[in-house]
Amino acid sequence: MNMISRSVLAAAATLALAGAAHAADIVGAASPATDAQLYIKVGASEVNGGPHTAGKAGIGVGTVSNAKPVDFQGLSSYSVPTTVNGVTVRTLAMPITGTPGNHSGMGHFNFVKVGSGDVWFGEWSKDGAAGGFNNRQVYFAGDRAGTTLPSGTATYAVAGLNKFNGSNLLSGTFVANFGNGTLVGGLSGGGQTLSVNAAINSADASFAGSAVANGSVNGSSKGQFFGANAAALAGIATFAGNSQYDTAFGGTKN
Ligand code: HEM
Repeated sequence: MNMISRSVLAAAATLALAGAAHAADIVGAASPATDAQLYIKVGASEVNGGPHTAGKAGIGVGTVSNAKPVDFQGLSSYSVPTTVNGVTVRTLAMPITGTPGNHSGMGHFNFVKVGSGDVWFGEWSKDGAAGGFNNRQVYFAGDRAGTTLPSGTATYAVAGLNKFNGSNLLSGTFVANFGNGTLVGGLSGGGQTLSVNAAINSADASFAGSAVANGSVNGSSKGQFFGANAAALAGIATFAGNSQYDTAFGGTKN
């Protein structure tokens, strides 16, 4: 390799880093994948082009460029909104019917933007309600730049998605006690109840703990506070062996 191509490569690497300057602040998690190809992952978006912008909270699908993430914000304008109890669920329905691998069949997305920041939660499946939510995964993702935790307690109005069909949104209240580091909440709707009991990690404003579905099915919960004075939260509750209860949730401080 000659010196010119080396310097061109170095310049390209610098630009790439500059474009993804905030990527380190993008956090998120998804429930376990069930297929080597039909899966999603969340993280900092990497694509600039079309409706896609790099460096934001994003989602990738295994069938497209090995799940290279694209930003939720860009996908929003192609989604169909449904508002339930004041919460707007965005649906991008591109069910995978035949052989996956093109830009039209990327699965079925339901996602919700939380508050005013770049914060999202949702669920993905191969085929949505019409097909039976195969390979469903729940997730949250967001930009935690500028996040601070207040003292005292705060109450959040929280919504949850589990096999969203246009009306079965879960809703409820979470209470964060930043003094003793606990987050406790409950959601109900669509024939499911979900309770969350988590410990807040003040070092990175994340939380993790347990979850109970329908009063008796034990699982775990994890998520993150976002924004100044923890303006918003988002997370997932997952149930190993009982993934039909897996729920993504999020909400803003009252
Ligand atoms: C639904 C509306 C969508 C539209 C209109 C759209 C459009 C586009 C366009 C025009 C490009 C080419 C950009 C360029 O090279 O200049 C692109 C690239 C890309 N899109 Fe989308 N897209 C959509 C949804 C999605 C979704 C849902 C995903 C995955 C979650 C996705 C993943 C990607 C990836 C990974 C690339 C880069 C391809 C590569 O790595 O070669 N797109 N998209």
